[in-house]
Amino acid sequence: MTTTATARSHWTSRWAFIMVTAGSAIGLGNIWKFPYMTGTNGGSAFVLVYLACIVGIGLPLLMAETLLGRRGQGNPMDAMGNVAREAGSGSYWKIVGFIGITGALLILSFYSVVAGWILEYMVRSFSGFTGITAETAASGFGSLLGNPLKMAMWHTVFMIMTVAVVARGVTGGIEKANKILMPALFGIVVALIIYGFVAADMPAAIRFMFHFDASQITPAVIFSAMGHSFFTLSLGMGSIMAYGSYLDRNTSIARNCFYVAVADTLIALLAGLAIFSIVFAKGLAPAAGPGLILQTLPMAFSQMPFGQAVGVSFFVLVAFAAWTSSISLLEPFVAFLVEKFSVDRKVAAWGTGFAVWLLGIAVCLSFNDWGGVKLFGLGIFDLLDSLTSKILMPLSGLLIAIFVGWVMKKQHVSDEVALSAGGMSLWYNVMRFVSPIVITLIFMNVMGWIG
Ligand code: PHE
Repeated sequence: MTTTATARSHWTSRWAFIMVTAGSAIGLGNIWKFPYMTGTNGGSAFVLVYLACIVGIGLPLLMAETLLGRRGQGNPMDAMGNVAREAGSGSYWKIVGFIGITGALLILSFYSVVAGWILEYMVRSFSGFTGITAETAASGFGSLLGNPLKMAMWHTVFMIMTVAVVARGVTGGIEKANKILMPALFGIVVALIIYGFVAADMPAAIRFMFHFDASQITPAVIFSAMGHSFFTLSLGMGSIMAYGSYLDRNTSIARNCFYVAVADTLIALLAGLAIFSIVFAKGLAPAAGPGLILQTLPMAFSQMPFGQAVGVSFFVLVAFAAWTSSISLLEPFVAFLVEKFSVDRKVAAWGTGFAVWLLGIAVCLSFNDWGGVKLFGLGIFDLLDSLTSKILMPLSGLLIAIFVGWVMKKQHVSDEVALSAGGMSLWYNVMRFVSPIVITLIFMNVMGWIG
């Protein structure tokens, strides 16, 4: 821990911030969600809009959220309150923090269930995948979805893992593990890419993901891609704000956020290419949905040399990546309880974890016994996913952009980001105009107000 003017604990080094922020960003969103969303949204059209959103909205907002956390020095609600006060504005801006810390818990409820799937496959991979065909891969995943008890068990294990870390305080251990495991995850994804080139259909994957076809870009694709760009960079949910608050004063926000966004995007694109090269080589359906990676990769592991070792490493590393992300989902709310109501950190973590766990049980059941339960035409899992990615995250991002661009004093903002004059004016204009306008237009379009 470095000594700083405040009593809050801080990361041990600049690297630590990059690592934990990348740890939050890189997770199931990259390995599980990005490929399946690309598949269900027509491939390249989705990828293109997603990339545009990362560059044009995501990275700038990542910087904004980090600076709010650092300047606000507190959990997301108090940080927003503090910075709003400094800017001479009302405490109603705390609502942004509130949307974040509660939205994060909603995400965690289904995130943990999916992470549970990964744990189950991690165990399956220890005994090795042999002779897996498209049919057995699909039925293997189907049998998991049809077994609420098993899913609930893994979800429970994963929630305990998450709570156990948050109960101790996040500046303790996770930064160290991240330093080794994130690069290792990158390595294993590269290994899968090599397999894709050698033994699967990489050209088809490249065509699917990068062949430009403007006619495929529909409002629904744009909406999904924007939502995913928020999800993958952990935006609008307080996670980045919470981590930014542990960042010390003289670290460059712009440079660090840039590295995080690049690493996050790279992992997603590589994972996508690896998976689609297998999908096309085996004649599978790219639009298989949330089970996509679990229905494709075991087949590859069952056929490649050292497949068992690669399979085990893959699932262990993905489980780890999911773990570091889920910690960042729980931390903001717990920090809020601890700082606001002086609740003991352990009590806050276990209590909040229990509530999230309960919601997660409903998610487990939504794949089987409660499959018929629908709200707005969506099952529980889809509802939580859409509500957070498509509504809460962009909404929170919109408010953050308006706050940083119009409410805060420009001098304070530029002190924090410490960009060159040119960089500052570009980024600042994105905050003031581009982000708010683009997000609003996309919302209005989807609501059918424009079109
Ligand atoms: N970014 C994480 C992922 O891609 C998920 C996440 C979303 C984490 C929001 C924190 C906040 O897996």
